[in-house]
Amino acid sequence: MPFIVIAVDGGAASGKSSTSRALAQKFNLMHVDTGAHYRTLTLSLLDAGIETPEALTADLSVLSRLTPGTEVRGQEAMMSVGGHVPADNEIRNDRVNAAVSKFAAVPALRKCLFDYQRGQKEVARERGFAGLIMDGRDIGSVIFPDAELRIFLTADPEARAARRAAEGIADSIAERDKADASRKTAPLACPQGAWLIDSTFLTLEEVVAKIAGKLKTLL
Ligand code: CDP
Ligand code: CDP
Repeated sequence: MPFIVIAVDGGAASGKSSTSRALAQKFNLMHVDTGAHYRTLTLSLLDAGIETPEALTADLSVLSRLTPGTEVRGQEAMMSVGGHVPADNEIRNDRVNAAVSKFAAVPALRKCLFDYQRGQKEVARERGFAGLIMDGRDIGSVIFPDAELRIFLTADPEARAARRAAEGIADSIAERDKADASRKTAPLACPQGAWLIDSTFLTLEEVVAKIAGKLKTLL
């Protein structure tokens, strides 16, 4: 059986998670949302009283105490810290939104996640999935540059803001995109050779159908 890795990157609210989740269901893939990894570490740091990237850089020893584990629920693989997977509302709120891109720019924190995220391929294989679909900002550029399929989702900022508003969520999309695209380590950008899909005028179903057509030729 072929085992494939699909990398999905893009800015905030470009449709990464919902597209990846739908494809995971359709093709029996394990889905990993790496944004949740950064959000979970951010929550742990804030709870430990570390409020700024400067405070983290001054004492990196805290990172070695945040041991990541994996819990698989259906198609979703979630990262735990200290054996606990935080609830969605603990990691998707103003407090975490405001801090996550700042911590995500710290190279030592990204390094911490590199082996863990690469290791998800083995987790997916061991669990009998047909492949791994991982979404984030640097999956096709840094984590899996060797993925069978690399996708970069984009949409106009207005369309993305409207999507978040439709979900009833206030989010600092523009600020996070700016911080993510301008950082030195693993900046948000469409990697060379990736498939760029602009979904400004496409529904979620249309994006999923487009990618599914391609996946059928790979699986
Ligand atoms: O869902 P949304 O696109 O709004 O954000 P997310 O995917 O949950 O990611 C939250 C933040 O984590 C991003 O704004 C980035 O700062 C960081 N991130 C990253 O640096 N690299 C990744 N592979 C994934 C997320
Ligand atoms: O993971 P990311 O932050 O990139 O985006 P998401 O959470 O998957 O999508 C944000 C919202 O946009 C969700 O409510 C999706 O249903 C919606 N969406 C859309 O309206 N049209 C698309 N082509 C993709 C997503």
